[in-house]
Amino acid sequence: MSINHPNFGQIGANRVIMFDTTLRDGEQSPGFSMNLDEKVRMAEMLAELGVDVIEAGFPIASIGDFDSVKTIAETVKGPVIAGLARSGSADIIRAGEAVRAAERKRIHTFISTSPLHMKYKLRMEPDAVLAAVTASVTLARDFTDDVEWSAEDGSRTDADFLCRCVEAAIAAGATTINIPDTVGYAVPEDMARIFNMVRARVPGAEKAIFSTHCHNDLGLAVANTLAAVAAGARQIECTINGIGERAGNAALEEVAMAIRTRPDVAPYVHNIDTTRILRTSKLLATITGFDVQPNKAIVGRNAFAHESGIHQDGMLKNAATYEIMTPESVGWQKTSLVMGKHSGRAAFRDKLATLGYGELGDNALNDAFRRFKDLADRKKIVYDDDIVALVDDEVMRDHQRIKFVSLELWAGSKAKPRALLELDVDGTIHTAEALGDGPVDATFNAIHAIFPHTAELRLFSVGAVTEGTDAQAKCSVRLEGDGKLVDGQGADTDTIVAAARAYLHALNKLLVKRARTAPAALAS
Ligand code: KIV
Ligand code: ZN
Repeated sequence: MSINHPNFGQIGANRVIMFDTTLRDGEQSPGFSMNLDEKVRMAEMLAELGVDVIEAGFPIASIGDFDSVKTIAETVKGPVIAGLARSGSADIIRAGEAVRAAERKRIHTFISTSPLHMKYKLRMEPDAVLAAVTASVTLARDFTDDVEWSAEDGSRTDADFLCRCVEAAIAAGATTINIPDTVGYAVPEDMARIFNMVRARVPGAEKAIFSTHCHNDLGLAVANTLAAVAAGARQIECTINGIGERAGNAALEEVAMAIRTRPDVAPYVHNIDTTRILRTSKLLATITGFDVQPNKAIVGRNAFAHESGIHQDGMLKNAATYEIMTPESVGWQKTSLVMGKHSGRAAFRDKLATLGYGELGDNALNDAFRRFKDLADRKKIVYDDDIVALVDDEVMRDHQRIKFVSLELWAGSKAKPRALLELDVDGTIHTAEALGDGPVDATFNAIHAIFPHTAELRLFSVGAVTEGTDAQAKCSVRLEGDGKLVDGQGADTDTIVAAARAYLHALNKLLVKRARTAPAALAS
């Protein structure tokens, strides 16, 4: 099997295309929304990671989605940029406009094909769905030669009808055929049966690349993905950290490392630079405010940690006793103890380069160095994770109208907590003092006093970046304004300062969103 694809040319028989949908299926899940700047930064990171296709969004869904797909298509070089569209012409035209400027572009159009979805969701007869398949792919081909067609709820679709739809899509010009396990219902045997069956029965199947898109409702997304590839799929749809609708999608890092680690059973080739996996995972966690669980495969804090004496003994004798891949191969550093207050700028720059921040500009570097020195003065040990949190925080500070300057607090068990806050709003320093039911409340009230606004606090959480009582706190704040939810993060050794930074981060995001959708300012 060797296919000549419009965007990839001649594709070797064992080459798998990595299609990342973090910015579409991933971003669609509650609490994971990202603004334009964050999506562009994430897309750049995905390009550096080596993904072949970035599904940048669902352009008809909102103006914000359209803008981000368009901006990514205009600015991010390397991967094919895809926009998602339902089968209606308005969706496809919008997706075509959004991806137009990309060096290499794709329209991904889909329609449900299972009896359940056709009857209750679409309220369409199978023949009408079949006609929509042909019409949607035909229209999409007017915008690009690279058209992907998906059978939504494909794994629960009648076999004969699935084959008729796939045949129609290929005949109309689809170059990729995706058969998703939309509801995460399949087991690996189902995936193997479906892909083998469709590839064997559909006339013209050899002209298309088959693709797998698995949800994780039963925790089988990665296993199902590998089963589909073994049965001939050569495109893998996946997301960083496995984020996505409900229980998420197949995790890119897990699929990529399964293929690298087990060539004996998965003899496939992908272009992922696995040493960049951890950086990409951490950037996503910083942007969304959701850390992966400690035991998450590949990118969890404990994925390469060995606590038991027996394991440590084995590791010291030969790391292969308890590690099936090296931590370095996915971007972890062997040593976690690194920098202190005596470290200079050159060492800091060097450290940043080893952590994957080699491209940081001089201003961002100077700001990050100043904050690092400040941190090193307050904290006994500065771990790599502290530096990553600090620099990511710095990078995400671009485009902020409201900046944190200083905070003083009076709190305790007797007097009502009081906060004295200084903020830089559009270049002017403002000060306010406020009381509250606790130091965080007093601080948030002081933000309100300096910058009155209508946004409402929906969630506040505190975590520790590393260990010990001198660890940096990492706070997350979710604000709602104008029907939009945004998440902000802040890190500092002082929990209340971290909370203030997180609040301002969210508020600034809301101001950016507001400015893009309506000219009025968020300030009331
Ligand atoms: O899960 C699914 O079926 C999807 C399609 C839009 C590909 O996300
Ligand atoms: Zn999906």
